[in-house]
Amino acid sequence: MLLRFLSTLALAGVVRALNGSVTDYAPLVNQPCPDLTTDPLLRVFTPNNQSLHPREEAYVGARLTTVIPNEWYNWVGDGSSIGYNLSTFNNSFPKIGIAISGGGHRAAQFGAGVLSGLDARNASAKAAGTGGFLQVTSYVSALSGGSWLTGSLYMNDFPTIHDLVYGNGGNLAGWLLDIAFATPDGDDIASTNNQDWLGSILWSVFAKGDTGIDTSLTDPWARIISYHFLNQTNRQNFFTNDSTHGAGQRWSDVPLIPSWQQQLVPFPIIEANSRPVGSNLTTALDPSAVVYEMTPMEFGSWDPGLSAMMNMSYAGTHLNNGQPDNDTACTTYFDQTGFVLGTSASLFNQLLDFARNKIAGFDNDVANWPSPFFNLTAKANFQDLNSKWLELVDGASNQENVPVGQLFVKARSMDVIVAVDGSGDLPTSWPNGTALLLADSRITTLLQSSHQTFPPLPGNAAEFISTGMNMRPTFYGCFPTQNPPEYPIVIYFPNSPPLNGDNPVANTGIFKLQYTPKHTQVFLDQVHNNTVGGFLPNTNDPDPDFGKCLQCIAIDRARYHVNPPVPLSTICAGCFQQYCFDPNNLTSVSALPGRKLAFVDPDPQGISAVTGFLSKGKLAIILGFVGLAILIAAISAFLIWRKRRARARDNAYQKVMELHDESEPPFTRRMFRRNIDDVSGRGKE
Ligand SMILES: *[C@@H]1O[C@H](CO)[C@@H](O)[C@H](O)[C@H]1NC(C)=O
Ligand SMILES: *[C@@H]1O[C@H](CO)[C@@H](O)[C@H](O)[C@H]1NC(C)=O
Ligand SMILES: *[C@@H]1O[C@H](CO)[C@@H](O)[C@H](O)[C@H]1NC(C)=O
Ligand SMILES: *[C@@H]1O[C@H](CO)[C@@H](O)[C@H](O)[C@H]1NC(C)=O
Ligand SMILES: *[C@@H]1O[C@H](CO)[C@@H](O)[C@H](O)[C@H]1NC(C)=O
Ligand SMILES: *[C@@H]1O[C@H](CO)[C@@H](O)[C@H](O)[C@H]1NC(C)=O
Ligand SMILES: *[C@@H]1O[C@H](CO)[C@@H](O)[C@H](O)[C@H]1NC(C)=O
Ligand SMILES: *[C@@H]1O[C@H](CO)[C@@H](O)[C@H](O)[C@H]1NC(C)=O
Ligand SMILES: *[C@@H]1O[C@H](CO)[C@@H](O)[C@H](O)[C@H]1NC(C)=O
Ligand SMILES: *[C@@H]1O[C@H](CO)[C@@H](O)[C@H](O)[C@H]1NC(C)=O
Ligand SMILES: *[C@@H]1O[C@H](CO)[C@@H](O)[C@H](O)[C@H]1NC(C)=O
Ligand SMILES: *[C@@H]1O[C@H](CO)[C@@H](O)[C@H](O)[C@H]1NC(C)=O
Repeated sequence: MLLRFLSTLALAGVVRALNGSVTDYAPLVNQPCPDLTTDPLLRVFTPNNQSLHPREEAYVGARLTTVIPNEWYNWVGDGSSIGYNLSTFNNSFPKIGIAISGGGHRAAQFGAGVLSGLDARNASAKAAGTGGFLQVTSYVSALSGGSWLTGSLYMNDFPTIHDLVYGNGGNLAGWLLDIAFATPDGDDIASTNNQDWLGSILWSVFAKGDTGIDTSLTDPWARIISYHFLNQTNRQNFFTNDSTHGAGQRWSDVPLIPSWQQQLVPFPIIEANSRPVGSNLTTALDPSAVVYEMTPMEFGSWDPGLSAMMNMSYAGTHLNNGQPDNDTACTTYFDQTGFVLGTSASLFNQLLDFARNKIAGFDNDVANWPSPFFNLTAKANFQDLNSKWLELVDGASNQENVPVGQLFVKARSMDVIVAVDGSGDLPTSWPNGTALLLADSRITTLLQSSHQTFPPLPGNAAEFISTGMNMRPTFYGCFPTQNPPEYPIVIYFPNSPPLNGDNPVANTGIFKLQYTPKHTQVFLDQVHNNTVGGFLPNTNDPDPDFGKCLQCIAIDRARYHVNPPVPLSTICAGCFQQYCFDPNNLTSVSALPGRKLAFVDPDPQGISAVTGFLSKGKLAIILGFVGLAILIAAISAFLIWRKRRARARDNAYQKVMELHDESEPPFTRRMFRRNIDDVSGRGKE
């Protein structure tokens, strides 16, 4: 089946039924640059003189002083229910950020379930006392699958989770997760619909390639993601080109959405990792590899070795020591939201390696970002100083699957950081705390000068498991020894079995790329219920006081903002006893009885009804995903070959395919066949 699909594609007429609008995915090159004397493209700093982009500072600051104080009153009232008088805090409330992990569709849905449990707009969350937390939040950071949720929220004007995921019967169509990522029209991968869909995706990527910017596997991937998570795609137009399917929607356009203009939404940050250029790594990255972030304002890194940021609107521009080639050498529209989300979720280099060690001659497995940091003389220690391209990869490639690092940046001065962890560390696809441990370790060893420090954590993953702290919400850093406190508070929400003892549906595999509506609904409801329910030791009941306890920990740093500090209230002291990590008084997993660990499909009939080669068991799912990856890689390579044959050699935009013999297409039909056979053969072993 796959072979038939590939063969069909290898024929010339793959691109059908296009009317051009999906080509809005193409960046614009040779655009006028801003006046660099008044509007520099780069901000260069050091850990000692770190500062936020002025627009980030202004947005976050204005929201914190004007919108957020009212939201605190909306959430906790006058404070008396948690033993405080809110007006004694003098409107100096904590700065809060939420970090949403990677983990494919699992992470996107897990993050969605948690956010719905923290959102005042959800009645049951509001009633439980947890709803309201989201409204007092200043930042959201996300990577990979979590970035799909985050990008989706912003590109749809931050609707409720219910409307975002399921649609609202009007302008929001929902995520359409029952439509498979790889073969949206189902089993017959050579069907007209599947061909039309793929044709549109390729057409977008061709348009980008035609600008001279080298494309990669991340480009078709970005377009696939856009069909589900950005607006402009619905069930009716999925296979047509009556819409641009999210092409042309820029990450730097986030400030145009109405909810941003009313300062109702947190400031978003998407994280990606980088593979040192030329390293060819297909394994997990060393912690020293530079970690990048993409905000609506900037693209760059706070890591001490770089400490530089590029104007996001001009991302895609090659700079040499901070300067463009000339006044009209700038690139715009490179920061397509789909591409930002695809970059953060570019796990092909590891995935392909997993499938076949290394696919011969295949080096097109990373997101190619023209480097604005090339030859930046002030940054002699920057890992990719001598490369005109950056090789960005999945934000979890260094195994820090929860992007808390962005929130520990000193200039962001966070008081409270929420780690929403949908990692699949254990064989049952639940997290085991590794993401937090590695984030702590990277900060301690490499980022002391640029980042705040972590509060004390369990010593290792085994201790997360034996204390049950990977199966319930826990607060870290409740008892600082200094004022101002020496670390922010960390609130940990791990994906965990339903507290009521139901069969879990949220611990799905990362390669599951299709969900029935029923599965998604039970998934979100289970996560929502766990989020609002906290935990009550030795029972399967929710904690009726968890809302208050979450309010206690969220507001706690405000006590230190006044002089003298406000004492801890009795109610909050009780909460801290139950929810705070105390290294000298470890809890036990035995206080969490009756949790079921093994995934049980809530809709087995639904899955088989949907059919498709991706749904015939886990092996098939993996093979299907890898098959897709090889397919789109081959297409990208073909595109670049075509492009390079057609144009002069010494273009500023070249590198990726220079290893391939220019006189032949890099991937012929025979190669398709060989690669697929190898993958299949390996899978059957
Ligand atoms: C920070 O200091 C470096 C030199 O140490 C200087 O080049 C840079 O302009 C400064 N940046 C800011 C934002 O002050
Ligand atoms: C809360 O504090 C304010 C001023 O700090 C005071 O006016 C008010 O009476 C207090 N409210 C209660 C219920 O004590
Ligand atoms: C995307 O959704 C938002 C919110 O509904 C809407 O305002 C915006 O116009 C949509 N964008 C496009 C290009 O349709
Ligand atoms: C694309 O085609 C549809 C009908 O097939 C039409 O409604 C739409 O306006 C076209 N868009 C562009 C940009 O031509
Ligand atoms: C990466 O691959 C290229 C091309 O195959 C090779 O020239 C280079 O030496 C490799 N780098 C490392 C570190 O192996
Ligand atoms: C400006 O630089 C771009 C990119 O290097 C190049 O394509 C273009 O020809 C240059 N324009 C002028 C006027 O030199
Ligand atoms: C690096 O920048 C310096 C200073 O602008 C310049 O003299 C040098 O030619 C640049 N090196 C390269 C390789 O472009
Ligand atoms: C925790 O998860 C990591 C994968 O992220 C795994 O390598 C490690 O063995 C696990 N440890 C325990 C104790 O489960
Ligand atoms: C609130 O969340 C629950 C749990 O996911 C969901 O069933 C309900 O529809 C949501 N309510 C609204 C108004 O979004
Ligand atoms: C979530 O909690 C509500 C209220 O307790 C309950 O009615 C519902 O069945 C629960 N849903 C799931 C999927 O556990
Ligand atoms: C409250 O805030 C005002 C203005 O920021 C400040 O002057 C005052 O000292 C603060 N009061 C306390 C008790 O911190
Ligand atoms: C240890 O924690 C438990 C609750 O987790 C509490 O009941 C007990 O009093 C604590 N013991 C000490 C010595 O703090």
